[in-house]
Amino acid sequence: MKLIFASNNANKLKEIKALVPPHIYILSLQDIEFDIEIEETGSTLQENAAIKARSIFELTGEACFADDSGLMVDALDGQPGVKSARYAGEPSDNLANIQLLLHKLKGKDNRAARFQTVVCYKDAHKESFFKGEVHGHITAEMHGSNGFGYDPIFIPTGYTNTFAEMEAEEKNKISHRKNAIAQLVVFLNQI
Ligand code: IMP
Repeated sequence: MKLIFASNNANKLKEIKALVPPHIYILSLQDIEFDIEIEETGSTLQENAAIKARSIFELTGEACFADDSGLMVDALDGQPGVKSARYAGEPSDNLANIQLLLHKLKGKDNRAARFQTVVCYKDAHKESFFKGEVHGHITAEMHGSNGFGYDPIFIPTGYTNTFAEMEAEEKNKISHRKNAIAQLVVFLNQI
């Protein structure tokens, strides 16, 4: 089965290829020679995932999926959420985003947070959504250098290390993206 992944993010593509079984062959936008940047204008992860999947389906007519992810912090009413990539403004800057988040959480006892991914699958007959989550908390300082985004300040529940201190394989076993993609794979095996 061939499936287009509506993204050109090399990190994500690698993570997702590692999560799907070999009979599902993932093509990136680069693989199909689509050099486009889709504007994420939605106000939720679900809207953004749908915008990306629908755009690629309209252009190609082929089965595809897109994802959108973010970090929701309880004490900040779910921020940065859908704005996670550009929390500290444009252009997207991981370090500035982390610094802003740590600053806003200074002195707060409740450091509970969760990563969420919403995947939208689209073909000629179906449009389906899958939500994956991982709960945890935000550290006081940055630890580790693996991964990306907010990984250096997020410790998943039941662990003592941040995502950035874990090997990719360990993070991939429990991540929000893994949970959403696992549901997509079950769905694909049924259609
Ligand atoms: P995207 O929609 O998957 O590109 O994610 C948007 C933003 O959420 C990223 O730029 C990161 O700041 C943050 N984010 C999403 N997933 C992760 C993750 O696994 N680790 C750390 N940050 C993440």
